[in-house]
Amino acid sequence: MASKTGIDQLRAIEEQFERDRACVVDLRSLEDIRTRYLSRKSGLITTQLQNLRELPSSERAEFGRVGNELKTRIEAAIETLQTTIAEQEKLSTLERERLDITLPGNRRRIGHHHPLTIVRNEIEEIFVSMGYTVEDGPEVENTYYNFEALNIPAGHPARDPKDTFYISDDLVLRTHTSPVQVRTMEKVQPPVRIICPGKVFRRDAADATHSPMFHQVEGLLVDEGITFSDLKGTLERFHREFFGKGTKTRLRPSFFPFTEPSAEVDVSCVFCGAAGCRICKNTGWIEVMGSGMVHPNLYSFVKYDPEKYTGFAFGGGIERYTMLKYNISDIQSFFQNDMRFLEQF
Ligand code: DAH
Repeated sequence: MASKTGIDQLRAIEEQFERDRACVVDLRSLEDIRTRYLSRKSGLITTQLQNLRELPSSERAEFGRVGNELKTRIEAAIETLQTTIAEQEKLSTLERERLDITLPGNRRRIGHHHPLTIVRNEIEEIFVSMGYTVEDGPEVENTYYNFEALNIPAGHPARDPKDTFYISDDLVLRTHTSPVQVRTMEKVQPPVRIICPGKVFRRDAADATHSPMFHQVEGLLVDEGITFSDLKGTLERFHREFFGKGTKTRLRPSFFPFTEPSAEVDVSCVFCGAAGCRICKNTGWIEVMGSGMVHPNLYSFVKYDPEKYTGFAFGGGIERYTMLKYNISDIQSFFQNDMRFLEQF
């Protein structure tokens, strides 16, 4: 009877194993049943086979055979499970760690240049490529440099406190970048070739075309034998580079105290290609700068020999150039820091 019980127990263990192995879900639970059935000390199969000696000798062979077969089958089943589960775990790890390269990334937002800076840089690059250097000057300026030495004497209407921010009797927020002409000529002897971009200030009420603070770029070239045609050629070249090859430049007689002769500078309308439109008021031309031949009076302030040297100067608004280039209709857009505007550049 004992042998029957032995074999029966083996069958019971086998059935139990079948149920247990169905519950194996990972390598850990697999390890649990390996220990449960095959552990050397306490495995269900191992301990059964150790009972062999207690059976009548007639039954030992049968019990041993069945027992060993069962052990082998359980070992093989565990081995197979081991391979399958390891494979599955590897696949699911791969799946979990899979990178979807089509997902939009977390792009770090980085800053970028303000449109006025973009245009200022571009203007600088063009003039630097023509041999100019970029100069700087103070925004709080002496009336001597802002007016006097530019041939704008005391009592001149251009000095009116209605238009100028006075800090004291002889100190102003510069109303133009022209004072840098004088400051440069005081420092260096000809040949002089400079541009000076920077902030200027006027007591204007803010509207679509005015702002109490805006930017200008000044240009000055002085050397022997410089003529009006050098001025025209330089501005033509600049405008073709800045607005495009087809751009024409026109000089119209005008007046500035610091130039003689003086000229307003127009470019062929960048919007209609000079055909005539609302923006150029059907003239085909748009005014962009003031310019002229440096007035000989300025040379006496900086002790240049007016018999030896001649030169030209020009000055224009950076906002204006930017508005024309990017078709911006309100100068206030530059100063409102609206991201919807700024992000377009
Ligand atoms: N300074 C003038 C202004 O603010 C612009 C200007 C005109 C500059 C003629 C010049 C020039 O250098 O030659 O309106």
